[in-house]
Amino acid sequence: MKKILFVVGSWREKSFNRQLAKKAEALLQGKAEVKYLDYAALPFVNQDKEAPEQAEVARVRAEIAAADGVWIFTPEYNFSYPGHVKNLLDWLSRPVIPMDYATPTCINGKPVALSGAGGKAATAQCRAKLTELLTFIKADVLPEQTGIALQPECWTTDVLLLTDEDTQHLAAEAEAFLKKLNA
Ligand SMILES: Cc1cc2nc3c(=O)[nH]c(=O)nc-3n(C[C@H](O)[C@H](O)[C@H](O)COP(=O)(O)O)c2cc1C
Repeated sequence: MKKILFVVGSWREKSFNRQLAKKAEALLQGKAEVKYLDYAALPFVNQDKEAPEQAEVARVRAEIAAADGVWIFTPEYNFSYPGHVKNLLDWLSRPVIPMDYATPTCINGKPVALSGAGGKAATAQCRAKLTELLTFIKADVLPEQTGIALQPECWTTDVLLLTDEDTQHLAAEAEAFLKKLNA
């Protein structure tokens, strides 16, 4: 079975995006091995601290390298992606050996799927900008994406509600990702 590493772009305890990831995990049950990336202890990128590779950076990079694919579930922050997601991707984009731009990074060619739950625009800007960034750092971004416009009740209950159409989109994305990984 292929290994898919889930990255949740929100550290909020009752995160809708984490709930969305759980729904995707259920869809993948028996079809892929799902693991969640813990990247909360990553330091901020600092070029003075790139070498020697810090233990936490090495651990996160190794988890990315070991995965067949990465699926990011993230909220939109101010028309873009959260800063900690950018920090993670900045670390993944850098060479392990300083100035060695010939050896591929752990994110190079990695299949990446994107989904997000947010306001009325369903994280469209966040996903568009993340697609641009991931393409720049040579990840292989899945064109099928799921954007969830949170229903008003979600905010009072803290429970993610999906319409049938939302669930169909998520299932179609999961199938497209599996197809790509198993191709
Ligand atoms: C700093 C900040 C900026 C935000 N900007 C946007 C935005 O531009 N578009 C949007 O849809 N939601 C925006 N939101 C709202 C979050 O996307 C929304 O609360 C989302 O549900 C959070 O996801 P989570 O439940 O997984 O944490 C913003 C929230 C924060 C904290």
